[in-house]
Amino acid sequence: MVKATPQVTVSAPGKIIISGEHVVVHGYPALVAAVNRRIKVKIVSSRGSLGVFPLHSWTFVKDALETLVKHIGFSPKYLDVKIKSDIPIGSGMGSSAAFAVAISMAILKKTGKGYDLKKIGDLAYELEKKYHGNPSGVDIAISTYGGVLWYRKETEEFKVFTNVNVSKKLPEVFLLDTGKPDETTKGTVAHVSSLLRNKPVKTVKTFEKVEKVTRAFLQYLIGEKSDNFTNLIKTNERLLEELGVVSPSTRSLIKKIEDSGGAAKISGGGGIRGASGIMLVYHKDKQKLLDFAKKKNLKLERVTFGGKGVAIEK
Ligand code: PMV
Repeated sequence: MVKATPQVTVSAPGKIIISGEHVVVHGYPALVAAVNRRIKVKIVSSRGSLGVFPLHSWTFVKDALETLVKHIGFSPKYLDVKIKSDIPIGSGMGSSAAFAVAISMAILKKTGKGYDLKKIGDLAYELEKKYHGNPSGVDIAISTYGGVLWYRKETEEFKVFTNVNVSKKLPEVFLLDTGKPDETTKGTVAHVSSLLRNKPVKTVKTFEKVEKVTRAFLQYLIGEKSDNFTNLIKTNERLLEELGVVSPSTRSLIKKIEDSGGAAKISGGGGIRGASGIMLVYHKDKQKLLDFAKKKNLKLERVTFGGKGVAIEK
């Protein structure tokens, strides 16, 4: 039996979907990487009632604790919960999943219940369902296990994933935040589901094309094929546009990046009307991209793929 701890800090990574967002909700594979952005959740026993910092996360934390308590059958009464994160919220980098994973591990550790990564992931998935309705679980899996994963949700209870050993020196990719979308991920997922209902034949064809490009990304990463990375990103982006999850302003920005010789794609839920969250940007001539960004006053951030999964912090 593991002993309960008076204080525990857990961190979990955010993620970037390299390919397969949205279709992964419908049973197609996704290729996803943990990134070097993390959330930290610190839980300390307190004397009074529930304390949450920052305060605007109060309802979020309260809901999470209620769900966790229901699932693990234990009620940690008085807690101070502190959250610190450098994962942008609601922009496609899995901030809510990283929170769900970190708080699940922290509570399991705090209450002295035994746990392993599977248990943490299962609990966090229950939380994620509260925020997202019908999540694929890919965000939870990557934040729990870290690295780079090939992921497929076969059924609600049966999800298959495996670590991808990236053999290639990964191309240098950047993130560009187009801003917080008007729609939540739940909203964009519902949009794609309604496309599938209303135009099943056409939509399934698009899904199948996405699967093909996801597989091509995989073969590129494991060194099986030396596809053109720029073209893979462009193809993936066009298919996401077909699914209607890239807003007009983001599409026009992506077009300009392409005209400069680069490529970009949204990553995660995307956005339909205003902004579309985080984008993955690549240019084989890095300097050209940096010059372009400077001219357009765009903030590019370097991102590294494949960080560690959820972990206790010292
Ligand atoms: O927007 P995010 O970070 O929640 O990414 C979600 C990825 C989707 O495929 C759009 C939804 C899902 O549950 O897989």
